[in-house]
Amino acid sequence: MTTREECLWLDERDPLAPLRAEFILDETQIYLDGNSLGPVTRATQRRVHEVIDHEWGEGLIRSWNAAGWMDAPLALGDRVATLVGARDGEVLVADTLTFLLAKIIGGSLELRPERHVIITDAVNFHSDLYIVAGMARLAGREIIVKTIDRDTLAEHLDDDVALVMLTHVDFRTGEMLDMASITAAVHGAGALMLWDLAHSTGAVPVDLSGAGVDFAAGCGYKYLNGGPGAPAFMYVAARWQGVLRNPLPGWLGHARPFDFEPTYESAPGMRAYVTSSPSVIALGALDGALEVFERTTMADVRVKSLALTDLFISLVEDALPGVFEVVTPRDHARRGSQVGLRHAEGYGIVQALIERGVIGDFRAPDICRFGFTPLYLRYVDVYDAVQTLVDVMMTSAHLDEKFAVRLAVT
Ligand SMILES: Cc1ncc(COP(=O)(O)O)c(C=O)c1O
Repeated sequence: MTTREECLWLDERDPLAPLRAEFILDETQIYLDGNSLGPVTRATQRRVHEVIDHEWGEGLIRSWNAAGWMDAPLALGDRVATLVGARDGEVLVADTLTFLLAKIIGGSLELRPERHVIITDAVNFHSDLYIVAGMARLAGREIIVKTIDRDTLAEHLDDDVALVMLTHVDFRTGEMLDMASITAAVHGAGALMLWDLAHSTGAVPVDLSGAGVDFAAGCGYKYLNGGPGAPAFMYVAARWQGVLRNPLPGWLGHARPFDFEPTYESAPGMRAYVTSSPSVIALGALDGALEVFERTTMADVRVKSLALTDLFISLVEDALPGVFEVVTPRDHARRGSQVGLRHAEGYGIVQALIERGVIGDFRAPDICRFGFTPLYLRYVDVYDAVQTLVDVMMTSAHLDEKFAVRLAVT
């Protein structure tokens, strides 16, 4: 079993260790929930003040031009592109993830008018399931949404399928799907591929270009640390730009918004997918948050992510044999940057941990979920978190009746 001293030794040699200083962290806590809401970076704090005090405070309306507010969704998109293997001009930062999925789903149904099936994963994130059903209803023709066991996808790929929408890293189990081979199979059937990158972006290397992906979208508030409700991003491969129409057109996606023309003419490139005014303060927060990624590579992040999740799994299994079912794959190629532990009393366990300063979350019905962000987590944090988990289980702290009623956000 790895000792605390060995963890401290690993921390001393960790090339990512200096990045921790970029984050504002409570040193009395261990934050294993960056997969849900990333912490504030110092650069974010600086950028938000700059936006409020100078760009908005002093520049007022002039800043739409002078501070680059109109182009910020595209400029930030280019920075996110480097994290997901996209090229300049293929990513837009706007709206929130569910809205961007709606735009892509709605637009892509027009690209396959002779096909009437959308396939998605029965255990996909519920918002994805709701929005795909909603967009199917609005399609103006009969669209069937098939929610399948993703492992049986090949059996469902036929000439009726217009679009396949999957989440790359499963939000409960942390299982990562093989983006390249699934995309190739979907293309082999003549369908289009949409990936939800909510639990991938900034967490694992993603190569959208290399995998030949058509469309993707992800959020800004998890591993990108853009803040609660941060703007999301969408990817449209260059070959689809000008072809995929925005089903929710608005004035700022018009070719000439300030001509105030009564009929819509789409702007070129990714600007076509803009609907409304960008949320400038939120873009400032994300702008600051992305700075830390310029000091590392996703390859280095991945090495440490796997080391941290390996360490967590092995410490839990050594200290608490048979207590939890580890639902996250052991196989590195199939693992994201989070670990799920199944336990019937999972909610109480997570709450008892939070009371003791170890912040994870709970995903119904029975998963204790722990996210590992290599940018600020130390090996010793993993060690101490597991010791706290051992303490909770040994003292049955999780069975306290105060945990019988669940909070609104779990
Ligand atoms: C996989 C996945 N898809 C979609 C969403 C919804 O994101 P938003 O609230 O930005 O619409 C989430 C939120 O956590 C998610 O985890």
